[in-house]
Amino acid sequence: MSEADVRTVGVVGLGTMGAGIAQVCVQAGIATVGREVSEELCELARERIAHYLGRGVEKGRLTAEERDAALGRLTTTTELADLAACDLVVEAIVEDLGAKRELFRALESVVREGAVLATNTSALSVTEIAGATKRPERVVGMHFFNPAPVLPLVEVVRTELASDAAVETAFALAERLGKEPIRCNDTPGFVVNRILIPLLNDCVRVLDEAGVSPEDLDKAMTRGVNWPIGPCALIDLIGIDVHVHASEALHAALGEARMAPPQRLVRMRDEGHLGRKSGQGFFSYGG
Ligand SMILES: NC(=O)c1ccc[n+]([C@@H]2O[C@H](COP(=O)([O-])OP(=O)(O)OC[C@H]3O[C@@H](n4cnc5c(N)ncnc54)[C@H](O)[C@@H]3O)[C@@H](O)[C@H]2O)c1
Repeated sequence: MSEADVRTVGVVGLGTMGAGIAQVCVQAGIATVGREVSEELCELARERIAHYLGRGVEKGRLTAEERDAALGRLTTTTELADLAACDLVVEAIVEDLGAKRELFRALESVVREGAVLATNTSALSVTEIAGATKRPERVVGMHFFNPAPVLPLVEVVRTELASDAAVETAFALAERLGKEPIRCNDTPGFVVNRILIPLLNDCVRVLDEAGVSPEDLDKAMTRGVNWPIGPCALIDLIGIDVHVHASEALHAALGEARMAPPQRLVRMRDEGHLGRKSGQGFFSYGG
C-alpha cells in the first residue's frame, strides 16, 4: 500500500482534534468519513468544520466554492461499519488506553487488510494500542498538534512492529495534507512533549521560586529568549487539564521529578481554571 492508494480517510472521534484533522483532510481534497458516538456530536462537528472553513473564506484563504467542495467530501456517521472503505483511519477519541484498544480491535474487523490504522494519542503507548490488534504492523501514531488546521507538525510514530509501508503511508499522507511530518520511535512523549512538558513545568515552578508574575515570566521568555509565546500563555492555550494529564502520563512513564505536574497547576485544574477554554487560566479571556 502506498500513499497514492489513500483515497478515503476515516477519523474516529470528532472532538477538538478529530474535527480539525477531518477539516484538514477534506481541504486537501480527500474524501473523509468521520465517526462520532451520537448524531448530535456528528452535527456539532460538521457545524464546527463549516464554521472554520467559513472563516477561511472571510479571510480570503479559500473561495466559497472551495469551502462547499470541502464540506461535500465530509460524511459523518455513528456506525463504525461505515469506515469499511477507508484506506487509513486516524483515531482521535478520549485519551484512555482501554477505550482505544477496544476501538482498534473493532476497527480491524471493519477495514480491509491493507488499511493503515493511526492513533493521535499524545501520551499513550502506540505499541500497547497496536497490541490489541491481530496485525500490529499496520498500526502507527499520527500525532497532530492543536489546532490541527494551523500547526504544521505531525509526529509519525513507528513502533517496533510497524511495517515500513504503514509508516511511509502515514508520512506521505501528512505531506499531502500540507503538513511537515517527522518520523520518531514510540517513546513516551515522542519528541515535542518529551521536551516541552518538563520545560513548561520548570517555568511554572519558577513562578513561585522566583516570586515572579505570569506576565513577567512570559515577558522574560518572549523578550529574553525570543520565544514566540510565553510559557503561561502557552499552557493556557494547551489547557491546564490537558497539560496536567500529559505531565502525569510522562511522569508515570519516565519518573523524572520535573515531569510531575506542579501543585499550582493541579490546583488550577481542580478549581476549573483550565485556560482559554474556560475563560480563566494564568490570564483572563473575556467574552
Ligand atoms: N487537545 C489536544 O491539544 C491534543 C493534541 C494532540 C493530541 N491529542 C489527542 O487526541 C485525542 C483526542 O483529544 P481531543 O482533545 O480531541 O478530545 P475531545 O474530548 O475534544 O474529543 C474526543 C471525541 O471522541 C469522541 N469519542 C469517544 N469515544 C468514541 C468512539 N468510540 N468513537 C467515536 N468517537 C468517540 C467523543 O465523543 C469526543 O467528541 C486524545 O488521544 C488526545 O490525547 C489532543
